[in-house]
Amino acid sequence: MTNGTATNSLQFLLNDQFVQVDNAAPTTTVLQYLRQQASLTGTKEGCAEGDCGACTVVVGERKGDDLELRTVNACIQFLPTLQGKSLYTVEYLRQDDGSLHPVQQALVDCHGSQCGFCTPGFVMSLWGYYVGNTSAPSKAELKNVLSGNLCRCTGYKPILEAGVRMFEPEPVIFDSAAASQQLAKLPATTTSLAYSAASKLFYAPGNLAELLALRRQHPTSTLLAGGTDVGLWVNKQFRDLGTILYTGNVAEMQTMELTSDGWLQVGAAVSLTDAYERICEWYPQLRELMLRFASLPIRNAGTLGGNVANGSPIGDSAPWLIALGGEVVLANADQSRTILVEDLYVDYMQQSRLADEVVVALRIPPPVADSEFRCWKVCKRYDSDISAVCGAVWIQLDGDQISAARVAFGGMAATSKRAPACEAALIGQPWSQATVDRAKAALGSDYSPLTDMRATADYRRQVAANLLTRFYLETRTVDPQPIAATRAFDQLETLP
Ligand code: FAD
Ligand code: FES
Ligand code: FES
Repeated sequence: MTNGTATNSLQFLLNDQFVQVDNAAPTTTVLQYLRQQASLTGTKEGCAEGDCGACTVVVGERKGDDLELRTVNACIQFLPTLQGKSLYTVEYLRQDDGSLHPVQQALVDCHGSQCGFCTPGFVMSLWGYYVGNTSAPSKAELKNVLSGNLCRCTGYKPILEAGVRMFEPEPVIFDSAAASQQLAKLPATTTSLAYSAASKLFYAPGNLAELLALRRQHPTSTLLAGGTDVGLWVNKQFRDLGTILYTGNVAEMQTMELTSDGWLQVGAAVSLTDAYERICEWYPQLRELMLRFASLPIRNAGTLGGNVANGSPIGDSAPWLIALGGEVVLANADQSRTILVEDLYVDYMQQSRLADEVVVALRIPPPVADSEFRCWKVCKRYDSDISAVCGAVWIQLDGDQISAARVAFGGMAATSKRAPACEAALIGQPWSQATVDRAKAALGSDYSPLTDMRATADYRRQVAANLLTRFYLETRTVDPQPIAATRAFDQLETLP
C-alpha cells in the first residue's frame, strides 16, 4: 500500500444512488460535500463541532448481510470515511408523490418546527430510530435518540410529541435488505483503501499489520478513528493533519471478545455505542454515564480507543477504566504490550505510549464477587456536556472490611488519576461513616484541581468528596440508599 497505488476516487451510496467523488481533499467534511458539491442543502451547519445536531445524517454500513444504520454528525466526518458505505440525508425522506415522510408530518402536526433551522437534524435523528423500529419509542429512548439535537425555538415538547406520533400513520417501509445488496456492489469497508487527493494521503488499512507498517512509514501521520476529536482540530483549529491513517477498516480493531483469562477485550475502533452497551452488561453502573457521554450521534461515530488515546483529563472513559483495573493493548511494528490504563497517562496530554504505538484494544476485567463499583459524571447539563468531575470508585469487601480499593477521578488533575491517599484511608478499614469521612479528607492531598470555565477548584474538591459520601450511602452494608438521578426533562414533564 504505497502512494503510487493510491486512488483519487471515492465510491459510496448517496440516498440510494451510486456516487463517485474525485479529488476531494481527505479532510473535506461530509457536510461540505453535501452542501457545496452535491447541492443537498437540507443538511445544515450550526456549530461545525458535533454539538448542535443541525447536520445529522444517517450512515449505513454492511455488517455481514445486514445493514447497520447510525446517525452521525456530518460536520465532523471526513468524506473518505464514507468509502463503501451509504449516506442518507433529509432529502431522501421526500416520498415519491412529493408528500412528507411520517416523521416530517408528525413534526408539522405537533408544531415541532418554528424557524426550522434545527428541523432536518431532528428529522434525521427521528428517522434513525424510525427505520429500525415499528412502534413509538419510550420517553427515555426518545430522549436518547434526540440527545444530540438542539432547538432554540420550540422548547422541545412538540418535538418529543412528534417522536411519539410518527408511527401513527401507515408506516413507510425502508427496505434494508435491498439497500444492503446495493451496498454489496461497492468496495467493502473491510478492504484497504489508499486515497490521495489535494496532495494529501488518506489510508484505511484493512488489518493491523498494515496499519502498523504505515505508522512506521509515516511517523508524523494522524491516526483517525471516529473523528469526534480530530474533526474539531480541522474545523476549529485549522490544523493540517498530514497523512491520515484511518482505523475504521482495521479488522482486529472492530472486535469485542472474551479472552482466555475471562477479560473483555474491546477493539480500539469499536464505537462508543457498541462498546458501552457491551460493557454495561457487566457493569450496569456505567449505564447513566453511557447515556450522558456526549450524544447518540457522537457515540455512534466515536470510539473507546479514540477516547482513551486522546487522553483528555476530562475524558469520561479513563476514570472507570482505571478504577476497574482496566488495561490498554499497545502495538507498533516491532511488538505488542499491555499496560494498565492508569500507566498510560503521564502528565497533561502526555502518555507513556511510544510515538509509533497505536492503541489496539482496551481490556476490562470481569466483575468480582463482594465488590462495589460506581461511576458518576458531574456537569452542568444532562446530555452532551463535558464533565467538570468524573469519578469512579471500586472496593472489595471482606465481610464489612475493605480489602482493596481503587478510586479515580477525571477533572481533578492534569490527567485522570488514582487517589492513593484516599485509597489508603479505605483499605483495611470497616466500611463505615468514620472511614468515608477519613477517605474524603485524604482526597485533599491526592488532588489540586484547577478553576476553569466548567467549575471552580473548590467546587471540584467538594463534589469529589460528596461523591464518596454518595458511594457510601449506596453501598454500605446496613440500609443502602440508592440515589436516583433527576433530569431536567423529567422535572419539566411534571408541569402543566
Ligand atoms: P478521533 O477523534 O478519531 O481521535 C481522537 C484521538 O485519538 C486523536 O489524537 C487520534 O489521533 C487518536 N487515536 C484514535 N484512534 C487511535 C488508536 N487506535 N491508537 C492511537 N491513537 C488513536 N468525550 C468524553 O469523554 N465525554 C463526553 O461527554 C464527550 N462529549 C463530546 C461531545 C461532542 C459534541 C464532541 C464533538 C466530543 C465529545 N467528546 C466527549 C470527545 C470525543 O467524543 C471522544 O474523545 C471520542 O471518544 C474520541 O474518539 P474518536 O473515535 O472520535 O477519536
Ligand atoms: Fe452542529 Fe454539526 S453543525 S453538530
Ligand atoms: Fe428554530 Fe429549532 S425551530 S432552532
